[in-house]
Amino acid sequence: MVSKHWLEVEPMECNGEAQERKQRWILVTGGAGYIGTHTVLQLLMEGYCVVIIDNLDNSCEEALHRVRKLAGEFGENLKFVKGDLCKVEDVLKVFKLHRFDAVIHFAGLKAVGESVSKPLRYYSNNLISTINLMDVMSKNNCKNLVFSSSATVYGQPECVPCTEDYPLHVMNPYGRTKLFNEDIMRDVHHADSEWKIVLLRYFNPVGSHPSGPRLHSCHGFGKWSYEGSGQTLHNSRHRMCNLQFGNRERHHCA
Ligand SMILES: NC(=O)c1ccc[n+]([C@@H]2O[C@H](COP(=O)([O-])OP(=O)(O)OC[C@H]3O[C@@H](n4cnc5c(N)ncnc54)[C@H](O)[C@@H]3O)[C@@H](O)[C@H]2O)c1
Repeated sequence: MVSKHWLEVEPMECNGEAQERKQRWILVTGGAGYIGTHTVLQLLMEGYCVVIIDNLDNSCEEALHRVRKLAGEFGENLKFVKGDLCKVEDVLKVFKLHRFDAVIHFAGLKAVGESVSKPLRYYSNNLISTINLMDVMSKNNCKNLVFSSSATVYGQPECVPCTEDYPLHVMNPYGRTKLFNEDIMRDVHHADSEWKIVLLRYFNPVGSHPSGPRLHSCHGFGKWSYEGSGQTLHNSRHRMCNLQFGNRERHHCA
């Protein structure tokens, strides 16, 4: 159920160019999660149409009601499909809905400790999901992908901030799933240069959306994020390292 607090939230204002981008469809995997909900809201406010696929393993549909509400008139451009990327039939179903311009891939299990005690769960979920997704994307000629990797691929860096050429040194199964996914993507791009792939290697984002304490809420939120820190996702201590291949011009590390 949506709380009273959230029903009182005023829709955000959108920018003037947003209408022009209507009909550009973005698929966001794991879009009901912490980073996903914030990203989806921003995409909607920029005028994109968004489909989310999420199995709600670590999230809840209620968060999407909040996103729709905050997006005001753009909320109707959001569709949600409850589905598991590890089931190829669920991925195929989503690609029958629209022709996507790009996919932002957030879906995955992310708890380092759990990945040590349940490695097969992590390898299975985080790798099969990506393979299914990229296979179906390729068959549908959608080759623009943003992947949510992690700064965990650097292990314990001796100094921060890391530059993207810092040696990769994963220390746990979660980190290895991120590095394997990156390797899969590098190989796919090597085999077919039409792919444009961005790997985002961020540290832990903290904080909440400016509209309220919790845009995304679910059982996992409190465990992995810092609620009530008074910082938003945009101005949080959020260091991002962004690797892109397919178009090397926009290399960026902050
Ligand atoms: N939060 C962080 O500190 C952080 C830092 C670096 C990288 N990342 C990565 O960013 C991504 C998003 O992180 P988050 O904090 O929003 O996590 P989150 O757990 O809040 O969101 C991930 C979403 O993916 C969904 N999901 C998992 N497996 C799925 C599957 N097989 N099919 C469909 N949906 C599935 C979950 O239900 C959840 O809603 C993850 O891949 C995570 O590894 C997170």
